[in-house]
Amino acid sequence: MIPKQVKIVEVGPRDGLQNEATPIHHDDKLALIDGLADAGLRAIEAGSFVNPKWVPQMAGSGDVFAALQRRPGVVYSALTPNLRGFEQALAAGVDEVAVFAAASEGFSRKNINCSVAESLQRFEPVMVAASAAGVPVRAYVSCVIACPYDGRIDASNVLNVTRALLDLGCYEVSLGDTVGQATPADTRRLLDTLLSAVPVGQLAAHFHDTYGQALANTLVALDYGIATIDSSVAGLGGCPYARGASGNLATEDLVYMLNGMDIEHGVNLDKLIAAGNRISAALGRRNQSKVAQALTPP
Ligand code: HMG
Ligand code: MG
Repeated sequence: MIPKQVKIVEVGPRDGLQNEATPIHHDDKLALIDGLADAGLRAIEAGSFVNPKWVPQMAGSGDVFAALQRRPGVVYSALTPNLRGFEQALAAGVDEVAVFAAASEGFSRKNINCSVAESLQRFEPVMVAASAAGVPVRAYVSCVIACPYDGRIDASNVLNVTRALLDLGCYEVSLGDTVGQATPADTRRLLDTLLSAVPVGQLAAHFHDTYGQALANTLVALDYGIATIDSSVAGLGGCPYARGASGNLATEDLVYMLNGMDIEHGVNLDKLIAAGNRISAALGRRNQSKVAQALTPP
């Protein structure tokens, strides 16, 4: 059944900016995060604590967290691939972290330089430390439909990794269509398999829009009862280890659709568009959201 209320996880400041070729000014990141919070977003992925040689745009995440004007009720989170990343994130004052695994071996190797099984082992001490610190841990599974290195991915692989992450103590698994190749038929097949074994409340949807399918896939996920949707303002984004992967589902497009479906989400569309236009201008490009384009005067 379609949920009456949806939690939007805004990943623009992390997934959106991590792949940018030109350096992004610290103040632009802060203005983006604050603009998103001002628009009503309550879950904002604000950075990641990974090797800065691999993802230079996220190198300043500690400084970003230190300088945030925290708004009450907003959860500011970060990606942490291992214990070292978690310790840095904790010191920076994150409210929540996310570990990230993949449903394909090829992507796991390229993205985090280890096998899927090794990545799960790396998360074990993160879970222990997070539990001791009272920090909730979310998880991602990448390449839930297709992998740029291994091709099509079997849903049973996604289910196995998802279960392993939930067994580790992650409160939710976000299903990442990293390369954006999924069609609604793929998404249905995936969710038929996953929901045979995992409660819908422990799943989130994370679609990239490379093939223009993100909103259609999100609608399928909503139809299956998934009530947490990841998106990125202005359709920013891409993954440095998935060539050709473009931005995430644009938050403006998601909000517009949810408005039309009378699904509550708490976000002010005008303020959101303003935040998306500001960061797009800072990056020297047009806002990639169709809704933002339609609603922004020439
Ligand atoms: P590694 O090479 O396996 O680690 O990297 P290592 O333990 O062998 O250490 C190698 C170097 O990394 C050492 O530095 C460590 O100190 C350093 P060196 O001696 O060479 O100077 N190191 C770290 N530095 C900073 N922070 C850390 C850290 N850990 C070790 N936490 C690692 C393992 C995961 C760190 C590396 O592979 C990495 O940083 N990868 C980047 C992964 C990434 O950020 N990918 C993009 C995000 S995932 C994504 O976008 C998908 C998602 O959106 C969902 C979807 O769409 O599918 C979530
Ligand atoms: Mg992503």
